[in-house]
Amino acid sequence: MTDRVDFCVFSVLVTGSDRGIGLGLVKRFLELPSPPQWVFATTLDLEGEDTKDLKELVCKHQNLVVLQLDVTKLESIQAALNKVQKCVGEGGLTILYNNAGTSAFNNLQTENAKDMMRVYSVNTIGPLQMSQAFLPLLKKAARRNPSQGLSASKAAIINMTSIGGSIEVMAAWNQYQVIGYRCSKAALNMLTKCQSLEYPADGIMSIAIHPGSVKTTHNPIPEISVEESTQGIMTVLSKLCEKDNGTFVDWLGRPIPW
Ligand SMILES: NC(=O)c1ccc[n+]([C@@H]2O[C@H](COP(=O)([O-])OP(=O)(O)OC[C@H]3O[C@@H](n4cnc5c(N)ncnc54)[C@H](OP(=O)(O)O)[C@@H]3O)[C@@H](O)[C@H]2O)c1
Repeated sequence: MTDRVDFCVFSVLVTGSDRGIGLGLVKRFLELPSPPQWVFATTLDLEGEDTKDLKELVCKHQNLVVLQLDVTKLESIQAALNKVQKCVGEGGLTILYNNAGTSAFNNLQTENAKDMMRVYSVNTIGPLQMSQAFLPLLKKAARRNPSQGLSASKAAIINMTSIGGSIEVMAAWNQYQVIGYRCSKAALNMLTKCQSLEYPADGIMSIAIHPGSVKTTHNPIPEISVEESTQGIMTVLSKLCEKDNGTFVDWLGRPIPW
């Protein structure tokens, strides 16, 4: 399916990849003509029903490693980091794809501290903590790649955001408000911008991607399939260069206003 897209990535980790768009991304990486040497998929529960697809993929792909990971828990992040480090050695991690996300269908009346904090800790604090923990591995990947400029083949943090977090667009406001979700993604966008200013000195680029309105478990108004979305994202990733650092784009590479 990804035969149109070819780019070389030594290693990639996709958070929240036992289902939905994350699982789709893992499949797309495994299908590349020159697949990564290491593809790390993560699940909250290694024994859970949701890991069935990943377990089938592991039987077919020796370069796929499935890890337990809760992006809200530092000890879980550290355990995953140790396992990734053992596999990749001095090669480092080329792409950290912060995909894991959650939502709560609250409006302005019903939004509350408990739901908002849960959504924030997965969607905003999770990507922050993951990026902090995996930074040394991303730096290693960048150092071993002699190419000039920034790219997703060298080292990249990809934050899966949403057009729902765009303050200018305010997408689908009349369909659903999802206050905490919108705020968490707007904050993730700001985090992406901050990372894009700090990490290029280490050869690492950062971008925010909206995957489209995708047919997954919680989307009430899907427009595209997981395959369409992830195929588009792979094309976007393969073309990323210096000028794309710190941008907010959709699954077709179209810029989205912050
Ligand atoms: N679908 C869309 O239309 C759409 C639109 C815009 C943006 N997005 C964003 O795209 C990303 C993926 O969305 P999706 O539709 O594929 O969602 P999904 O089907 O609900 O999958 C979310 C994934 O995140 C994992 N996850 C949840 N909490 C986690 C935690 N604390 N630590 C680690 N993993 C955790 C889930 O694990 P479990 O399976 O164990 O629950 C699952 O694998 C999200 O960031 C979402 O906000 C989606």
